[in-house]
Amino acid sequence: MDIQENIDLWNKQLEQATAEDIIAFFTSRFREKIALSSSMGLEDQVLTSMLVAQSPETGIFTLDTARLFPETYDLIDLTSKKYKKPIKVFFPDPAEVEEMVAEKGINLFYDSIGNRKLCCGIRKIKPLQRALKDLDAWITGLRRDQSVTRTEMNIVEWDGNNGLIKVNPLINWTEEDVWKYVNDNNIPFNKLHKKGFASIGCQPCTHAIAQGEDLRAGRWWWENPETKECGLHAR
Ligand code: ADX
Ligand code: SF4
Repeated sequence: MDIQENIDLWNKQLEQATAEDIIAFFTSRFREKIALSSSMGLEDQVLTSMLVAQSPETGIFTLDTARLFPETYDLIDLTSKKYKKPIKVFFPDPAEVEEMVAEKGINLFYDSIGNRKLCCGIRKIKPLQRALKDLDAWITGLRRDQSVTRTEMNIVEWDGNNGLIKVNPLINWTEEDVWKYVNDNNIPFNKLHKKGFASIGCQPCTHAIAQGEDLRAGRWWWENPETKECGLHAR
């Protein structure tokens, strides 16, 4: 059976599975070859709590772009202490950042989509490639209803850009499901969520949203919704 056939089969098999079942299914299969990629967002905090309870040896990593909010750094520290679990932090290559900034300016991302993608490439995509280098699968906190770019995503996918399997245990969860789990289980979350921030990324590229606005309206707000992906989840 080729890998895509396997993935189709798993998607069918896990159609009705809970997020915990999905995590158990893949952590027992891939062992040290699977890890959670956490942006410290609400979904990732849910997955961290499930993972620590079920499979404490599974790795968790985060990509520090060096442009995150102070509140996000506080949450990395708090989460790792609460769960007694190291969160591996990947940084961008300083030489590449220096060259980019020298050439294009410190806030280049506001000038063009090309510049924005260049910055995401150096600060996120390349560090992600290093984080995934020795893995066969990664776990993300993606949900279908987060954006128009995510409605077709599945529980399990082949990540052709990085050449490994991607597992999205919360793909069918709603925002309400996530908040209920966070509140019921006393899960630490970014203080910015109480200040109107929904989806939280880098400080210069994220702002608070008004009630009723699209969840990701505060990310790269100057771009149009169909193109608003940093490249971590390009399909
Ligand atoms: S993004 O592509 O727009 O930045 P989003 O913030 O919605 O993504 O997060 C979706 C998922 O991508 C997260 O649940 C997490 O698995 C992964 N992710 C996003 N940003 C990071 C990050 N800085 N470090 C690690 N994983 C991340
Ligand atoms: Fe750069 Fe903004 Fe992308 Fe962060 S979100 S890596 S600051 S362009």
